[in-house]
Amino acid sequence: MFEFTSIGPTKVDCDGCHDFVYVSYNKTDASQLDMEGNNNNRIVLIEKYAKIAQKIKDMEVYDDDIWVVSFPKSGTTWTMEMTWLLNNDLNYKMARDVELSHRVPMLEISGVLNLFPEGSADTVINMRRPRHIKTHLNVALLPDKLWTSKAKVFYVARNPKDCIVSYFHHSRHITGYHGSMDDFVETFLQDKVLYTPYFEHIQAFWNLRHKPNIMMFMYEDMQADLLSILRKISEFLGKNYTDKQLIELKEHLSADKMRKNPSCNNDVFLSEAQKRNNPVNDGTYTFIRKAKVGGYKEELSQHFIERIDKWTEESLKFTDFRFKC
Ligand code: A3P
Repeated sequence: MFEFTSIGPTKVDCDGCHDFVYVSYNKTDASQLDMEGNNNNRIVLIEKYAKIAQKIKDMEVYDDDIWVVSFPKSGTTWTMEMTWLLNNDLNYKMARDVELSHRVPMLEISGVLNLFPEGSADTVINMRRPRHIKTHLNVALLPDKLWTSKAKVFYVARNPKDCIVSYFHHSRHITGYHGSMDDFVETFLQDKVLYTPYFEHIQAFWNLRHKPNIMMFMYEDMQADLLSILRKISEFLGKNYTDKQLIELKEHLSADKMRKNPSCNNDVFLSEAQKRNNPVNDGTYTFIRKAKVGGYKEELSQHFIERIDKWTEESLKFTDFRFKC
């Protein structure tokens, strides 16, 4: 059912990448959920994922679960803090006292980063309900029961140029990539970076966005009008907050506030990665970095801007999904 195949040579050299494999899951009910006209549901993970793949597929999913799903660097952390607070009656004290990565643990992290010991799937499986769960897995690898339960699923997507640049910095400062931006982008475009291919990840969720328990939105929409998104999420969760409460939450969720908030800025994870992965450590990196739309313009070469635009156009030829940047 699961297939693990080599990704072949890659220029990106960092934690786990020597063990990178394409994982695919070939079962009819998963392919039903796959992209129309495209049964390629492969995703780059590491070999170690084999140990938890079936456990995740078969895990129990509860109606009161909250799932935050995304391609990496798309605004996941932002969405996690937002949905956790909205679903937990704006409990700022607990949000401050308990680190976000414990409130919303990442399901597969021990199966994708060598830095993490075994057990992330068990941690999630045994969590106290209501569970909040983070994952970057694609539709095909998610638990079967996610599609039959009433669990609420939030999917956030971000334009590819900002996403790739953000991923490059993440890889340099966290996973220990020491190569160039150009090699990173090239490798990303070849679907050889962890969790790629990128468009297929988003497209599969785009095809599911009308399901009553799925809410999909864009990082760029959060930046443009966070208050509207907060209202929509509240309604989706069946919560009723006043405008004053939502304005206060918006303030709490600003990049500046979250950057200074040790519960959200992944400081412990960062310092652990810095000890273990020998990443670039120039003292300038914070997990919540530029936090803007179009930041790529300051960093990506014209050559790659054009290439990514062309690649995007090609990839979106057969879909009505469009990016907002
Ligand atoms: P940049 O690296 O472009 O700054 P993820 O959480 O999926 O890893 O995504 C990280 C990206 O989201 C980073 O992008 C980060 O700065 C941005 N981000 C995190 N919190 C944010 C916030 N409160 N407001 C705006 N952007 C935020």
